Amino acid sequence: MRDLRPFHPRTIIEPFRVKSVEKLPSVTRERRAEALAQAHWNLFALDACDVTIDLLTDSGTGAMSAEQWAGIMRGDESYAGSPSFRRFEAEVRDLTGIEHILPTHQGRAAEHLLFGLVAGPGKVVPSNTHFDTTRANVEATGAEARDLLIAEGRDSSSLHPFKGNVDLDALERTLDEASGRIPLAMVTVTNNAGGGQPVSLENLRAVRALLSRHGIPLFLDACRFAENAWFIREREPGQQGRSPREIAREMFSLADGATFSAKKDGLANIGGFLALRDGDLAVRARRALVLTEGYPTYGGLAGRDLEAIAVGLREVLDEDYLRYRHATLQYFGRALVEAGVPIVLPVGGHAVFLDGRRFCEHLPPRRFPAQSLACALYLHAGLRGVEVGQLMFGRPPPHGGDETPVPLDLVRLALPRRTYTQSHVDLCIEAIVDLFAQRDAISGLSIVEQPPVLRHFTAKLAP
Ligand code: F0G
Repeated sequence: MRDLRPFHPRTIIEPFRVKSVEKLPSVTRERRAEALAQAHWNLFALDACDVTIDLLTDSGTGAMSAEQWAGIMRGDESYAGSPSFRRFEAEVRDLTGIEHILPTHQGRAAEHLLFGLVAGPGKVVPSNTHFDTTRANVEATGAEARDLLIAEGRDSSSLHPFKGNVDLDALERTLDEASGRIPLAMVTVTNNAGGGQPVSLENLRAVRALLSRHGIPLFLDACRFAENAWFIREREPGQQGRSPREIAREMFSLADGATFSAKKDGLANIGGFLALRDGDLAVRARRALVLTEGYPTYGGLAGRDLEAIAVGLREVLDEDYLRYRHATLQYFGRALVEAGVPIVLPVGGHAVFLDGRRFCEHLPPRRFPAQSLACALYLHAGLRGVEVGQLMFGRPPPHGGDETPVPLDLVRLALPRRTYTQSHVDLCIEAIVDLFAQRDAISGLSIVEQPPVLRHFTAKLAP
């Protein structure tokens, strides 16, 4: 045995074993064709029982650990002063270093609470890119949500390592031009709406310094903070030796507050929080919280949810977990690139984005190439993704005719955390590559019925 060379495996494993399983629906092609027609070619209208691999979102769809389920049993359901809240609060404080922690039922409730207090008509809220619920909550108060992403972040072929970075010159111009009207600035880590792309520590520090000169608070939309920390460690000079937890702590140390959806990097199925350093703002936020969410020690959640999140926040920064998470997405993306399938590069932290327009070159934007591709993928393999393109962001012209094309037509394939294995990813790759080989057979779609806002959720389409 003394001559045995040490073993350095190249295989990065799922760093868990399975204790409880959930049967995947096995659906025939005939049934999928029928389901697609019944859903009017809108994948939100499908019954989940008709979907075999569901990559619609990574939000609330992750698998909880045995420790989290143990926390569920430990959950204390006292209306006020529950020890589960104290555990949750201590865990969030230890991670963020932020004093005031208000639990909310999910991320958008924290956004609603925050912007209801600080935004309003005439105000401007800058960000790298506002996620759609953040934008909607800013705009609902009459304020302007302004996206100030670096140019590389808008170019689907740029290989910039931190495509989520804020454009500092544009921020400086906004700070001068909207002086006195900016209640706070947001940075979304990772930048979901921009492809799950990370923000560097250097950029966060520079944003912090700029804002400090103008006395403006910085808030993180921290939904995917752990994935962002991993990218910093992998890609940012000088960060390689640090633990993801150390990096995450530094990210939060630069912020005056955060909104958080525990459905992503909280590794929970529901929940969120609003974190605030400003004690006066926290008093006002707690008053508003009681009105809509619940008493400040549960805020719209059960005690058991608070326990699951407290455990999840620790597990999500585990190096083995983050290495595997990142490796799975890179593996998925690399296989598609090798087969010539057009995707957004570099691959982001939670999803692979197919470029619908380059995939379906025979379909003009007015035929919804990304939505057509998403429907074809479902029909072909029972795989559900979500269109992020013309259907989601386009607007029908007021006097008829063709819509103005939006910049990109993408299909997001978001990977739930700890839920699917490598063979599931292999099946997705196989299905996408097979469909790519016969892409000319993908037919375009037209809208037959649509609501005035957020049309992608309920619009009806037809080939
Ligand atoms: N901010 C970001 C960056 C998000 O991705 C989301 C949700 C939210 C805020 C809102 O959080 O859903 O808990 O209210 N993103 C999900 C998605 C819906 O599919 O990307 P929530």
